Amino acid sequence: MGQPRPLENYTPYRNLPPLAGLATLEEAARPGLSVEQCVARLKRFHYAFRRLHEIFIARITAEPIYELKTGFSHHGYLCAEHVQALRTRVAEMREPPLGLEEVPHPALEQFFDEILAAPTTQELLLGLYEKALPALDAALQKHIAETNPLTDAPSVRVCRFALMELADMIEFGQRCITCLVEPADRERAAEWLDLLDACLAAAGDLDGTAPSDGPIPPRMHSRQPYVYDPIPRRDERFQDLWNQGVNAEAFLYDETYPASAKALMMLFKRLREIDVPEMMASIIVQTKGKPWEYYRDMTRQLWDEARHAMMGEVGFVALGVDWTQARITHNWSYRLNTECSPLERHAVLYFIEQGLMTRTGKRYEWEVAQESGFPLMATLQDYDWADEVLHAAIGRQWYVPQVGDMRQALDYGDKCWARILSNWRTVRDRGLTQHANWWPAIYLQACASRGEQPDPRVLAYATTYEDMRADLKTVSGSA
Ligand SMILES: [Fe+2]
Ligand SMILES: [Fe+2]
Repeated sequence: MGQPRPLENYTPYRNLPPLAGLATLEEAARPGLSVEQCVARLKRFHYAFRRLHEIFIARITAEPIYELKTGFSHHGYLCAEHVQALRTRVAEMREPPLGLEEVPHPALEQFFDEILAAPTTQELLLGLYEKALPALDAALQKHIAETNPLTDAPSVRVCRFALMELADMIEFGQRCITCLVEPADRERAAEWLDLLDACLAAAGDLDGTAPSDGPIPPRMHSRQPYVYDPIPRRDERFQDLWNQGVNAEAFLYDETYPASAKALMMLFKRLREIDVPEMMASIIVQTKGKPWEYYRDMTRQLWDEARHAMMGEVGFVALGVDWTQARITHNWSYRLNTECSPLERHAVLYFIEQGLMTRTGKRYEWEVAQESGFPLMATLQDYDWADEVLHAAIGRQWYVPQVGDMRQALDYGDKCWARILSNWRTVRDRGLTQHANWWPAIYLQACASRGEQPDPRVLAYATTYEDMRADLKTVSGSA
């Protein structure tokens, strides 16, 4: 005589899928994690994403490789969103006080401290994409496998979204490792990678579900507390980093130049925006004690600015122009990061972005793009404009109240920016740049690729940033 099998014998009405599609009856009838166990794991996922966000953002500025700068901007943003989702979920689970700022285990803290302080790009990539993200991926999968799919459906949903993006992040990281990490690099890092494993083992795995296995190993890269490096660095495609030889705004706002050539100048301005993530990373890293929503919003804006730079890259490539012939300078991020406080940097950013909301700002760029005869340009500027409207709102929410009202916030930004006097002569006199005019090389390439004759007047454009304060009154700030 067999045991009765009520779960197998149960038939939903007209064989409809049961349980709102969450699971089978068998799956949902298995007891799962308690709320307490569930929250303990979610807090560790939250901690992991928070530390990953911190690492990605902190390493943008001084990382020379552009593809990694933009990749870290993206992944930092994704982590920020998952932090937000996990905070919301934990708050739903009888948990006040939430304790979300607590370190769940000292070994886990050390695990992330070590990766944050990785001394080379290669070690950073290995630590992030071969250790941290896969450990988090495994922990999230385990949560889905072990929790009750009906009772804990809201957590399962949060985990599934996170897994989807983690898979993309890990794939990107693996490809970067294939391109950048030599066997000798891996060998040199072997001891350190073992140390990371030992940290996870001592922490009882990332999710704390295994018994703590072994002592916390001595610190290696994190023996000294990590110090953020505010100096922007670039890879070798970016040459002549102090060049201010071509005044993009004076060209863009001159009504006598054709829209098709202005499109090229706008692509330069977009690509030059890689200096905004370099600068915003410093604000995010050096501003402590804000609500999480501040870091999430600022990181969203940072990621948008990285996308704006990539829009410039795509546009140049689509037009058959080698953008490395232009001079994608770091003047703006370098100076703000080294001469201003985080609040002053935010003030400058806000001041510039408010200026983009005027009639001659982003709307104008979009109109020029539409006239340019280059349909992609209109798409790029349309979304760039929409992003900037969002950024102005982020500034109103987080920056303005720190200074006072709107008027005071603008005045303060103006004042901070006015302090950054033109260094056009200084950098030339120090031999850092000759302010070479790169414009003809870019323009001629675009003409050749379109099969057009160059316009002699456009070709002869040679206005520099000499005697210009690089701000809105001449409109040359990034953002
Ligand atoms: Fe932007
Ligand atoms: Fe912006």
